[in-house]
This record gives sequence, structure tokens and C-alpha cells, in this order.
Amino acid sequence: MKTLLFLGLLAVANAQYSEVRHIALDAVDKLREILPDYQSAHDITINKLYESKQKALGELNSFYNQTLTLKTNSLKVVMDAELNLLNYGNTIEDWCFENNIWGLMSITGWAGNKYSECIKKLDDSIDKDVAEMYEQFSVSEAKIQKYSIFEVFFKPSNIISRPESLADTISKLKIDITDDIPDFDDIIRTFIIDLREKQSQYTNCLDELQTVFDDEIQRLRKFSEECVEEQNN
Ligand SMILES: *[C@@H]1O[C@H](CO)[C@@H](O)[C@H](O)[C@H]1NC(C)=O
Repeated sequence: MKTLLFLGLLAVANAQYSEVRHIALDAVDKLREILPDYQSAHDITINKLYESKQKALGELNSFYNQTLTLKTNSLKVVMDAELNLLNYGNTIEDWCFENNIWGLMSITGWAGNKYSECIKKLDDSIDKDVAEMYEQFSVSEAKIQKYSIFEVFFKPSNIISRPESLADTISKLKIDITDDIPDFDDIIRTFIIDLREKQSQYTNCLDELQTVFDDEIQRLRKFSEECVEEQNN
């Protein structure tokens, strides 16, 4: 009786061995099969990341270029106005212009400081945008790094007694990896919008400078013109 029971159990164990244990081995093989997908998801991500960073930095460089153009144009206008006033001064009696020399020195000094102020403000905010852009790249990149291949073995089930659900988990892992390849385009779009916004703030700062400068130049000129008029009367 005891022997019969033993033989019965042995038969069950043998049957289970041949039906279920191979599923466990298959599961390990399946995981090996998804390794190329895993590798390719990494490759795609790294390549995209590299291209996207290059693109973002290209945008940054053309932003610098445009900003320098804005600054150059503004400087030219300011210097022209200064030269005009000096030329006018050369055509009139000294005493009608003498006092304006100090006024002119003072307003050009102010303009120089204002230029620094405008560009400093711009530089600070761009630093922040660039840091944010890099941060977003690394957060996106990390999405694909979250897959630890071996986790499937300790998360859902026991590989020896219940390998079936393990197989499910493995096939799901494959789909997840492909779906999670990050799209970095949004980061570049946001970065471009940020740069444009900062550039328009910089333009406003230069416009403010221009308005104050022009008003002061006009005031100085009027002062001289009135003096000349008085001389003629
Ligand atoms: C800067 O912009 C000008 C046009 O405004 C362009 O001709 C020049 O090639 C640009 N330089 C760089 C380094 O992008």
C-alpha cells in the first residue's frame, strides 16, 4: 500500500516535470529572445538622444547669433545718434554745446550699463532654460533604463511551480520597451519656445534703452538749439 502510494505520487511528479518544468526553461529562453529588442531600444534611444541634443544646441547657437545681431543693431542706432549730436555740436558756438558734453557722457555711460543689465538678465534665464532642457533629456532617457531584465524572475511568480505567468510578464516586457522609446521632439519644441520668449524680453530691454537714450539726446539737442536761437536774437 505504501509502495503503491509512493508510485502514484512519483507518477504525478513525473507528469508535472515533463509538462510544467519545460515552461520554466522556455521562459528563460524567451527572455533571451527579447534581448535584441532591448538592445535595439537602447541603441535607438541613444542615437535619438544624441541627435536631439545636437539639434537643441544648434538652436542655442543660432539664438546666440540672433542675439548678437540684435545687440549690434541697437549699438549702431545708439552710436549714430551720439555721432549726430556731436556733429551738430561742431557746427555751433562752443558755449551752446559745452554743457551737453557732460550730458552726452552721462547718457552714453548709462546706456553701457543698461546693455550689460539686459544681457545679464538674458544670460541668467538662458542658463536656467539650458539646465532644464538637459534635465528633461535625462528624465526621458531614464525611461528606457528602468527595465531591469532580471526583475521578471523575482516579481510575479515562482519560476519552478508557476512559470506560466512568467511567460506573460516577459511578453509584456517586450511591448513596454518598444512603447517607451522616448520622443525627444517635445523637449526641443519647448526649448525653442523658451528661447524665443527670452529673446523677445531682451528685445524689450533694448527698446527701453533706446527710448530713454533717444529722449535724452533730443533733450540735449533742444537745449543747444535754444541757446543758438537766443544768440541770434
Ligand atoms: C549668424 O547669422 C547670420 C545671418 O544673420 C549668418 O549669415 C551667419 O552664418 C550666422 N552665423 C552662425 C555661426 O550661425
